[in-house]
Amino acid sequence: MRAGVRNLLNIRTRRVSLAPPGLPRAFDGFSILLLSDMHLGSIPELGPAVVRVIEGLRADVCVFAGDFRLYAHQSGPTFETDLRRIVDAVRAPAGLYGVLGNHDTIDDARLADCLGIRMLVNEAVSIRRDGATIRLAGVDDPHTYRLDDLDRALAGAPKGAFTVLAAHTSEIAADAAHKGVGLYLCGHTHGGQICLPGGVPLLVSTRSPRAYACGEWDLRGMKGYTSAGVGASIVPARFNCPGEVVTIEMRAKSSRTRPARTSCP
Ligand SMILES: [Fe+2]
Repeated sequence: MRAGVRNLLNIRTRRVSLAPPGLPRAFDGFSILLLSDMHLGSIPELGPAVVRVIEGLRADVCVFAGDFRLYAHQSGPTFETDLRRIVDAVRAPAGLYGVLGNHDTIDDARLADCLGIRMLVNEAVSIRRDGATIRLAGVDDPHTYRLDDLDRALAGAPKGAFTVLAAHTSEIAADAAHKGVGLYLCGHTHGGQICLPGGVPLLVSTRSPRAYACGEWDLRGMKGYTSAGVGASIVPARFNCPGEVVTIEMRAKSSRTRPARTSCP
């Protein structure tokens, strides 16, 4: 198990370039720091490890895709301190945003809001850049609590507005694609967390097809990214599936994009 803990603390950084259709040209190069499934409190060393990783990163916005804490009914004593230090370490001048995961409580939403993370619970904000506007929407947990309300989150958007949707899981991806979301960001699966050699997950705990279980995907033109997550749940260990902090760079369709396809691990 010692090796598994070592793997858990060896969080990697990844940079992904995605070109969702309809992205306003003014947002070409706009970057999103994506942290999902931190599960803070599993072991005391995790929070400092996350801080070390994100200290060297910079993005326009930061999105936390849920599962801040270990379990809804418990988390280690370092949870709040860890989250505070992580928020302080993030460099994202256009703001920090978050959605709730199936391990989080409504109290966590209040705490995150107090710390400076604007929690999006079936709602959206507008982000402006050089005279153009995009929407960043977020929904409540679609997996366990199933309190997600996509229609409410997307309501009020100007016709044709480009929307980035944050949700804890990919389980509402088909609905989001149908409703015109341009980029879908999520986590939840941990990429399997404990995988066979080669990164083949044993379990991904989702109702979605495995094609959306980890990494980059495409659904009827909507671009998506499922994070392998930062931390771990059930057991504080990872095998053949490193945790990740991802910087997603959005590119306007006609601009040059990096050809690399990323998958996990
Ligand atoms: Fe999780």
